[in-house]
Amino acid sequence: MKELKDKTAFVTGGGSGIGLATAKALATRGARIILADIDGARVKTAAADLRAVGVDAMALTLNVADEADWARAGELAARFGEVQVLCSNAGVGGGSGTFETYDTEVWRWAYAVNAHAHLYACRTFLGAMKAMDEPCHLTLTASMVGIVPPPISVAYISSKFATLGIAMGLRNELADTRVGLSVLCPGMSATRIVETTAILRPGASEEGAAARTAQSMGSVLASGMSPDKIGERVVKAIEAGEFYIFTHPEWKRLAEPQIAEMMAAFGESADPDYPGDDIDGLVAANGARRLNVSVSHS
Ligand SMILES: NC(=O)c1ccc[n+]([C@@H]2O[C@H](COP(=O)([O-])OP(=O)(O)OC[C@H]3O[C@@H](n4cnc5c(N)ncnc54)[C@H](O)[C@@H]3O)[C@@H](O)[C@H]2O)c1
Repeated sequence: MKELKDKTAFVTGGGSGIGLATAKALATRGARIILADIDGARVKTAAADLRAVGVDAMALTLNVADEADWARAGELAARFGEVQVLCSNAGVGGGSGTFETYDTEVWRWAYAVNAHAHLYACRTFLGAMKAMDEPCHLTLTASMVGIVPPPISVAYISSKFATLGIAMGLRNELADTRVGLSVLCPGMSATRIVETTAILRPGASEEGAAARTAQSMGSVLASGMSPDKIGERVVKAIEAGEFYIFTHPEWKRLAEPQIAEMMAAFGESADPDYPGDDIDGLVAANGARRLNVSVSHS
């Protein structure tokens, strides 16, 4: 999507961090901005700051995990303009501790915000974006932990793998449309995510070892990459029609052995007499023309 001037962008998690930085970078290209966030006060201030420097921007309070809230957000957004760039970015950390001790309410919440919300975002805007038949773009924020999982929250990691899976699956569906698609997989960034997670998580606050982990994560992320650099990189990827947005190449040395292990696991067939799967038949059975696994799209 080469031209962003006067296009309307809807950015979730737009009150802070990577979402706000992406919105600001979009604004430098002349885009009109809708910032949506569960933190109404923060997002209002962020939109006012944008307007103060001449950007056409509006704030919208939205809980991305609440499907009904999306219907209201869609109506309010429509009054501002037809959305052509959708950045489904809001996210929270998951619970801590060993997997079997997870609080199921926190687990569901992490999935609702980090993964299910992409469906609600697309339900609200993607149909119209396809129907416009002009260049549009969708970005989903996953994480580098959805590529290479470090020893952190399994809820967070797996919800980010889900986001990557949504993007990879959706890529096939969007192949013959004018809607470009990117999946953002950043490494560490100095944002408020540890703080917002602690404020927003359902149930009791974390205590003991879990609280100490969160505190240490906060210190590690404080020296992470500036979200502004990531926001600018996202917009360059939108303009170039790149699918994967990797911002932290230092993770490549960990991705390589992981992918090599996976490739090496493709050994002999479990049935030497089996002729092999009819992958073309699988594609055709689903009404698709091709398997869109590696072709960049804009
Ligand atoms: N910070 C990192 O190191 C890092 C790394 C990889 C990926 N990410 C991802 O980047 C995205 C943005 O996070 P960030 O790091 O900028 O954090 P952030 O906390 O600074 O910003 C996230 C924003 O999302 C909002 N939000 C949270 N739950 C919401 C909900 N239910 N509805 C609407 N808004 C909600 C928060 O209020 C906050 O303003 C997330 O998806 C996160 O998982 C962050």
